[in-house]
Amino acid sequence: MTRAAVFACSHRRGGNTDHAAELLAEGVRRAGGAADVYYVRNFEVMPCLACGYCDAPERTGRERCVLGPTDQAWDLFAPCLTARTILFASPIYFYHLPSRLKTWIDRGQQFWRARLDNEPWIADLPPRTAHAVLLAGQPTGEKLFDGARLTLKYFVHNFGMDLAAPLTLRGVDTRNDLRTKADFEARILALGRTAWETAD
Ligand SMILES: Cc1cc2nc3c(=O)[nH]c(=O)nc-3n(C[C@H](O)[C@H](O)[C@H](O)COP(=O)(O)O)c2cc1C
Repeated sequence: MTRAAVFACSHRRGGNTDHAAELLAEGVRRAGGAADVYYVRNFEVMPCLACGYCDAPERTGRERCVLGPTDQAWDLFAPCLTARTILFASPIYFYHLPSRLKTWIDRGQQFWRARLDNEPWIADLPPRTAHAVLLAGQPTGEKLFDGARLTLKYFVHNFGMDLAAPLTLRGVDTRNDLRTKADFEARILALGRTAWETAD
Protein backbone atom coordinates (compact mmCIF):
# COMPACT_ATOMS: atom_id res chain seq x y z
CA MET A 1 0.00 0.00 0.00
CA THR A 2 2.27 2.68 -1.34
CA ARG A 3 -0.07 5.18 -2.97
CA ALA A 4 -3.04 7.38 -2.14
CA ALA A 5 -6.15 7.42 -4.33
CA VAL A 6 -8.00 10.71 -4.79
CA PHE A 7 -11.51 10.60 -6.25
CA ALA A 8 -12.65 13.80 -7.98
CA CYS A 9 -16.42 13.54 -8.00
CA SER A 10 -17.85 16.56 -9.84
CA HIS A 11 -19.60 16.41 -13.19
CA ARG A 12 -18.02 19.80 -14.03
CA ARG A 13 -14.57 19.58 -15.58
CA GLY A 14 -12.04 22.09 -14.25
CA GLY A 15 -14.25 23.42 -11.45
CA ASN A 16 -13.84 23.67 -7.71
CA THR A 17 -13.82 19.94 -7.06
CA ASP A 18 -11.16 19.15 -9.65
CA HIS A 19 -9.02 21.89 -8.12
CA ALA A 20 -9.63 20.47 -4.63
CA ALA A 21 -8.70 16.96 -5.78
CA GLU A 22 -5.46 18.26 -7.30
CA LEU A 23 -4.66 20.10 -4.07
CA LEU A 24 -5.25 16.92 -2.06
CA ALA A 25 -2.87 15.04 -4.34
CA GLU A 26 -0.31 17.83 -4.04
CA GLY A 27 -0.60 17.68 -0.24
CA VAL A 28 0.10 13.95 -0.34
CA ARG A 29 3.14 14.54 -2.55
CA ARG A 30 4.46 17.28 -0.27
CA ALA A 31 4.27 14.80 2.60
CA GLY A 32 6.49 12.45 0.60
CA GLY A 33 3.73 10.22 -0.76
CA ALA A 34 2.36 9.40 -4.18
CA ALA A 35 -1.20 9.99 -5.32
CA ASP A 36 -3.38 9.10 -8.28
CA VAL A 37 -6.40 11.25 -9.12
CA TYR A 38 -9.46 9.48 -10.54
CA TYR A 39 -12.06 11.70 -12.22
CA VAL A 40 -15.19 9.66 -11.54
CA ARG A 41 -17.13 11.31 -14.42
CA ASN A 42 -14.71 9.73 -16.91
CA PHE A 43 -15.58 6.16 -15.87
CA GLU A 44 -18.49 4.29 -17.37
CA VAL A 45 -20.34 2.71 -14.45
CA MET A 46 -23.65 0.86 -14.70
CA PRO A 47 -26.17 1.18 -11.87
CA CYS A 48 -26.65 -1.68 -9.43
CA LEU A 49 -29.47 -3.88 -10.75
CA ALA A 50 -30.56 -4.99 -7.26
CA CYS A 51 -30.71 -8.47 -8.77
CA GLY A 52 -29.41 -10.37 -5.74
CA TYR A 53 -26.64 -12.07 -7.76
CA CYS A 54 -24.01 -10.96 -5.23
CA ASP A 55 -25.90 -12.67 -2.38
CA ALA A 56 -24.56 -16.09 -3.41
CA PRO A 57 -21.55 -16.79 -1.15
CA GLU A 58 -19.85 -19.06 -3.72
CA ARG A 59 -19.20 -15.99 -5.91
CA THR A 60 -15.98 -14.21 -4.98
CA GLY A 61 -13.94 -11.21 -6.07
CA ARG A 62 -14.94 -9.66 -9.38
CA GLU A 63 -17.35 -12.54 -9.95
CA ARG A 64 -19.58 -11.32 -7.12
CA CYS A 65 -21.40 -8.79 -9.29
CA VAL A 66 -23.38 -9.89 -12.33
CA LEU A 67 -22.03 -6.81 -14.15
CA GLY A 68 -18.50 -8.01 -13.36
CA PRO A 69 -15.97 -6.43 -15.71
CA THR A 70 -18.55 -5.22 -18.25
CA ASP A 71 -17.96 -1.61 -17.26
CA GLN A 72 -15.27 0.43 -15.48
CA ALA A 73 -16.55 0.17 -11.89
CA TRP A 74 -13.63 -2.08 -10.97
CA ASP A 75 -11.12 0.44 -12.30
CA LEU A 76 -12.33 2.60 -9.40
CA PHE A 77 -12.74 -0.21 -6.86
CA ALA A 78 -9.23 -1.60 -7.33
CA PRO A 79 -7.49 1.36 -5.65
CA CYS A 80 -9.91 1.10 -2.70
CA LEU A 81 -8.45 -2.34 -2.01
CA THR A 82 -4.80 -1.37 -2.41
CA ALA A 83 -4.39 2.32 -1.52
CA ARG A 84 -2.76 3.42 1.70
CA THR A 85 -5.52 6.00 2.06
CA ILE A 86 -8.34 7.26 -0.13
CA LEU A 87 -9.59 10.83 -0.37
CA PHE A 88 -12.78 12.18 -1.90
CA ALA A 89 -13.33 15.66 -3.27
CA SER A 90 -17.00 16.14 -3.98
CA PRO A 91 -19.51 18.90 -4.53
CA ILE A 92 -22.88 18.78 -2.81
CA TYR A 93 -25.78 18.25 -5.20
CA PHE A 94 -29.23 18.64 -3.66
CA TYR A 95 -27.87 18.01 -0.15
CA HIS A 96 -26.05 14.85 -1.25
CA LEU A 97 -23.40 13.32 -3.47
CA PRO A 98 -23.49 13.68 -7.28
CA SER A 99 -25.36 10.94 -9.11
CA ARG A 100 -22.37 9.45 -10.93
CA LEU A 101 -20.54 8.96 -7.66
CA LYS A 102 -23.66 7.54 -6.02
CA THR A 103 -24.11 5.13 -8.93
CA TRP A 104 -20.62 3.78 -8.33
CA ILE A 105 -21.17 3.66 -4.57
CA ASP A 106 -24.30 1.54 -5.02
CA ARG A 107 -22.18 -0.99 -6.91
CA GLY A 108 -20.31 -1.37 -3.62
CA GLN A 109 -23.15 -3.61 -2.45
CA GLN A 110 -21.05 -6.57 -3.66
CA PHE A 111 -18.37 -5.70 -1.08
CA TRP A 112 -20.94 -5.19 1.67
CA ARG A 113 -22.22 -8.68 0.91
CA ALA A 114 -18.72 -10.23 0.77
CA ARG A 115 -17.88 -8.66 4.13
CA LEU A 116 -21.10 -10.07 5.60
CA ASP A 117 -19.95 -13.51 4.40
CA ASN A 118 -16.55 -12.84 6.02
CA GLU A 119 -14.67 -13.43 2.80
CA PRO A 120 -10.95 -13.09 3.58
CA TRP A 121 -10.07 -11.02 0.47
CA ILE A 122 -12.29 -8.24 1.81
CA ALA A 123 -12.64 -8.97 5.54
CA ASP A 124 -8.86 -9.14 6.06
CA LEU A 125 -8.01 -5.78 4.50
CA PRO A 126 -5.96 -3.70 6.94
CA PRO A 127 -7.77 -0.96 8.83
CA ARG A 128 -7.27 2.37 7.08
CA THR A 129 -8.67 5.90 7.16
CA ALA A 130 -10.48 7.70 4.35
CA HIS A 131 -10.85 11.47 4.04
CA ALA A 132 -13.17 13.85 2.24
CA VAL A 133 -13.50 17.48 1.29
CA LEU A 134 -17.08 18.49 0.54
CA LEU A 135 -17.83 21.73 -1.33
CA ALA A 136 -21.17 23.52 -1.36
CA GLY A 137 -22.48 26.72 -2.90
CA GLN A 138 -24.80 27.63 -0.06
CA PRO A 139 -23.43 29.57 2.90
CA THR A 140 -26.00 28.03 5.25
CA GLY A 141 -27.87 24.79 5.90
CA GLU A 142 -27.38 22.93 9.14
CA LYS A 143 -27.61 19.47 7.56
CA LEU A 144 -26.04 20.37 4.21
CA PHE A 145 -23.27 17.76 4.47
CA ASP A 146 -24.97 15.07 6.57
CA GLY A 147 -26.19 12.85 3.75
CA ALA A 148 -22.87 12.90 1.90
CA ARG A 149 -20.92 12.17 5.07
CA LEU A 150 -23.05 9.19 6.09
CA THR A 151 -23.00 7.64 2.63
CA LEU A 152 -19.21 7.96 2.36
CA LYS A 153 -18.81 6.58 5.89
CA TYR A 154 -20.69 3.39 5.10
CA PHE A 155 -19.20 3.06 1.63
CA VAL A 156 -15.59 3.12 2.85
CA HIS A 157 -16.48 0.72 5.66
CA ASN A 158 -16.76 -1.91 2.90
CA PHE A 159 -12.99 -1.60 2.48
CA GLY A 160 -12.08 -1.66 6.16
CA MET A 161 -11.81 2.11 6.40
CA ASP A 162 -13.08 4.69 8.83
CA LEU A 163 -14.04 8.08 7.46
CA ALA A 164 -12.34 10.96 9.25
CA ALA A 165 -14.50 14.03 9.87
CA PRO A 166 -14.83 15.61 6.39
CA LEU A 167 -13.52 19.08 5.61
CA THR A 168 -16.69 20.98 4.72
CA LEU A 169 -16.45 24.23 2.77
CA ARG A 170 -19.38 26.55 2.05
CA GLY A 171 -19.88 29.42 -0.32
CA VAL A 172 -17.91 27.80 -3.13
CA ASP A 173 -20.14 27.96 -6.18
CA THR A 174 -19.00 29.40 -9.51
CA ARG A 175 -16.29 27.48 -11.37
CA ASN A 176 -13.32 29.45 -10.03
CA ASP A 177 -14.55 30.27 -6.52
CA LEU A 178 -12.11 27.97 -4.76
CA ARG A 179 -9.18 29.58 -6.59
CA THR A 180 -10.11 32.91 -4.96
CA LYS A 181 -10.09 31.51 -1.40
CA ALA A 182 -6.53 30.99 -0.30
CA ASP A 183 -7.54 29.87 3.20
CA PHE A 184 -9.70 27.06 1.78
CA GLU A 185 -6.92 26.02 -0.58
CA ALA A 186 -4.48 25.86 2.31
CA ARG A 187 -6.83 23.70 4.37
CA ILE A 188 -7.29 21.25 1.50
CA LEU A 189 -3.55 21.04 0.92
CA ALA A 190 -3.06 20.40 4.63
CA LEU A 191 -5.68 17.65 4.57
CA GLY A 192 -3.79 15.83 1.81
CA ARG A 193 -0.59 16.12 3.76
CA THR A 194 -2.17 14.93 7.03
CA ALA A 195 -3.92 12.04 5.30
CA TRP A 196 -0.59 10.71 4.10
CA GLU A 197 1.34 11.41 7.29
CA THR A 198 -1.24 9.78 9.56
CA ALA A 199 -1.82 6.69 7.40
CA ASP A 200 -0.44 3.50 8.92
C1 LIG B 1 -27.14 19.73 -9.70
C2 LIG B 1 -26.55 20.61 -8.66
C3 LIG B 1 -27.08 20.61 -7.39
C4 LIG B 1 -26.53 21.42 -6.40
N1 LIG B 1 -27.05 21.36 -5.13
C5 LIG B 1 -26.53 22.11 -4.15
C6 LIG B 1 -27.06 22.05 -2.82
O1 LIG B 1 -27.99 21.31 -2.51
N2 LIG B 1 -26.49 22.85 -1.87
C7 LIG B 1 -25.43 23.67 -2.16
O2 LIG B 1 -24.96 24.37 -1.26
N3 LIG B 1 -24.91 23.72 -3.40
C8 LIG B 1 -25.42 22.98 -4.39
N4 LIG B 1 -24.88 23.02 -5.66
C9 LIG B 1 -23.72 23.89 -5.92
C10 LIG B 1 -22.40 23.11 -5.95
O3 LIG B 1 -22.22 22.33 -4.79
C11 LIG B 1 -21.24 24.09 -6.08
O4 LIG B 1 -21.43 24.90 -7.22
C12 LIG B 1 -19.89 23.42 -6.17
O5 LIG B 1 -18.87 24.36 -5.98
C13 LIG B 1 -19.69 22.75 -7.51
O6 LIG B 1 -18.41 22.21 -7.61
P1 LIG B 1 -17.68 22.06 -9.05
O7 LIG B 1 -17.17 23.41 -9.43
O8 LIG B 1 -16.63 21.09 -8.84
O9 LIG B 1 -18.70 21.53 -10.00
C14 LIG B 1 -25.43 22.25 -6.68
C15 LIG B 1 -24.89 22.24 -7.98
C16 LIG B 1 -25.45 21.45 -8.96
C17 LIG B 1 -24.84 21.45 -10.35
